[in-house]
Amino acid sequence: MRTYHRLIFGDAENMRELDDGSVQLVVTSPPYFNAPFDYPDMFESYDEYLDKMRRIAREIYRVMDDGRIVCIVCDDTLINGVKYPVVADLTKIYMDEGFAYRDKIIWIKPEGYIRISRRSGVILQHPYPMYFYPDNIQETILIFQKGRFDYQKIPEDIKKKSKIDTEEYQKNKWYLTTWHITNVLPLKNRLEQGVAAFPEEIPYRLIKLFSYVGETVLDPFMGSATTNKVAAELGRNSFGYEVDVELCDVVKEKMGLKQCCLIDKNYDVEIVVREDARRLRTHLQDKVRRQKSVTKNAKREAGKLVQ
Ligand SMILES: C[S@@+](CC[C@H](N)C(=O)[O-])C[C@H]1O[C@@H](n2cnc3c(N)ncnc32)[C@H](O)[C@@H]1O
Repeated sequence: MRTYHRLIFGDAENMRELDDGSVQLVVTSPPYFNAPFDYPDMFESYDEYLDKMRRIAREIYRVMDDGRIVCIVCDDTLINGVKYPVVADLTKIYMDEGFAYRDKIIWIKPEGYIRISRRSGVILQHPYPMYFYPDNIQETILIFQKGRFDYQKIPEDIKKKSKIDTEEYQKNKWYLTTWHITNVLPLKNRLEQGVAAFPEEIPYRLIKLFSYVGETVLDPFMGSATTNKVAAELGRNSFGYEVDVELCDVVKEKMGLKQCCLIDKNYDVEIVVREDARRLRTHLQDKVRRQKSVTKNAKREAGKLVQ
């Protein structure tokens, strides 16, 4: 089955290219509120961030088909010692906007993959009560549903083509509320540098579990287009929105548009750059570099003072 993928550079607050009720599944990961390594100071305040997330949740509700599922990969953010309850606030926002809260899966990363500093070390220097700060190796996958799903609506042949491999389901323990999956480290020279991409295994499981072949999957925070790539591989159509047009090359590469390939792909990709697309990545990564060098210098100075 030939599929179609429309990837739009523009703000997801307005998904005017999508008709009401035209999307069967959302798999996405919103920007982590002002996360120091990816989006430093992207939002003026936490309230501004939540307002934006609410307007996008409302637009997602409009484009979702009845009975269908929205999966949000997110996590609380720690900035300068202040913890922001993103998971709780997004849950409330999606419920306020009309979705039912269906499930929560905890994605557990391997221990060696921690990106931010290890807070747990504090107790080794001060082995007393009240010095405990755990290292975070998890993210949350929130699962919401718009109304009730009509199981009778799906034709038998589509059901057959979309059958879940129960051996894979059992073997890789998809049935649990905890999923152990290795994450993508946005290292230097990697395609996903500065994008905070999720591993393909996440959309792979969610697309198989919550959509049928030939349906449409949306990622309103497309990043490097991981969801769209996996949707194409699984015979689903997709839409993507990404505000940062500087990710256009990354998206093209992930969708296989850069390789000169003799074998014809079984999917078509259309890229649209709207007037509200912005240029963010270079500016944000410069900021990350500057912050890192300030922290390094401060540590060096502190070291001198101790000596
Ligand atoms: C956590 S990343 C998504 C990464 C993606 N899941 C992947 O695997 O590459 C969030 C993305 O949302 C984008 N973004 C932020 N605000 C947006 C908005 N209002 N509309 C569309 N995209 C937005 C950011 O530029 C960033 O690329």
